[in-house]
Amino acid sequence: MKLIDLIVGARPNFMKIAAVSRALDSEIASGLPLRYRVVHTGQHYDKAMSSQIFTDLDLPEPEINFGVGSGTQAEQTGNIMVAYERLLSKTPSNLCIVVGDVNSTLSCAITARKCGVPVAHVEAGIRSGDWSMPEEINRVATDSISNYFFTTTSDAKQRLVDQGFNSNSVFFVGNTMIDTLLRCQERFTPPEFCTGAPESWSDKKYIVLTMHRPSNVQDAEALSERLDAICLSAEKSNCHVIFPMHPRTRIAMAQTSFDRANLKIIDPLGYLEFNFLVNNSVGVVTDSGGITEETTVLGIPCITLRDNTERPETVELGTNELIGTDVKNIPFWVEKMCSGDWKKSEIPDLWDGGAGVRIVKHLKEILL
Ligand code: UD1
Repeated sequence: MKLIDLIVGARPNFMKIAAVSRALDSEIASGLPLRYRVVHTGQHYDKAMSSQIFTDLDLPEPEINFGVGSGTQAEQTGNIMVAYERLLSKTPSNLCIVVGDVNSTLSCAITARKCGVPVAHVEAGIRSGDWSMPEEINRVATDSISNYFFTTTSDAKQRLVDQGFNSNSVFFVGNTMIDTLLRCQERFTPPEFCTGAPESWSDKKYIVLTMHRPSNVQDAEALSERLDAICLSAEKSNCHVIFPMHPRTRIAMAQTSFDRANLKIIDPLGYLEFNFLVNNSVGVVTDSGGITEETTVLGIPCITLRDNTERPETVELGTNELIGTDVKNIPFWVEKMCSGDWKKSEIPDLWDGGAGVRIVKHLKEILL
């Protein structure tokens, strides 16, 4: 029976792979003659960044975990390649499915292709044009060696076709991250501090902040300036700021003594808790890409602290505003968000919960 590898490594991969594994499970239960194994590179290893999310998503525990952990770009990429090559040489698979744009995506794609295993890339064809981001390099390099492409938008499909990829291998299927969001929506759970704290944060007006990109958090002074602008602007509307903090951001914060009465810094949250917070917030301020897709579908205002995005549909159709990295832009947009004055939005085509099922339909044609 043919074997598919589902590769995960870092937090945003788990939501995307969960949609594919779920759709496969349902077909396998009805007799589909395919099997899969979840291969975790171990790029993310903290409980909150990894194992808690597996539980939240009912994602099968990984059969294999390389446990590579942290390192420089080259160390992480190299260590994953060595470990995956070893696995494939012992037990080869018939297709390697990678998702998104993290280091694990590229490392496993290259390794599989060189070992003669075809590669399918989920979330193919998106581009920020920003070559200073490792994610952009990962996207372009992964697409350049993939055999099959599953895209979240028709524009991403068109870009790949325009670049000369065979249109019979490029499938516009919709957004797997949104499959998982819609499936889990009823189970969103208040974080402990909402229910347990004497004053309930969930009753309060708050924005959710996430920042982890090196360009935004490496310089502790610039990070404090941004935080200050966000907190002061929110305070004008009696709005709190809840900041589930990525480990890298913690390191930068430790070098500052920054504090504000309306700022609550917490550890990274599980998936169900994080989205509960988002869904009940006034809005989100972020430098993540995936969160801009989720807020678009939930109808929650979103401000992106970046100069570019690989997900323009979240700005053109969705709730996202791309405001750049200049701290001077923050007050206007945060005040606007906290006052409830935001644009009307639409949900992009095929972000409807059915992407995983559409992918499996194509996998059957590819593998059987
Ligand atoms: C990675 C992805 C990024 C994604 C992000 C989500 C790449 C190039 N980047 O970035 O696209 O948005 O994940 O979080 O793959 N760390 C921990 N515990 C963990 C994981 C990481 O403490 O569980 C620390 C590491 O030691 C390191 C830092 O966080 O110091 C960064 O981790 P890394 O995996 O290199 O990339 P991310 O910034 O998380």
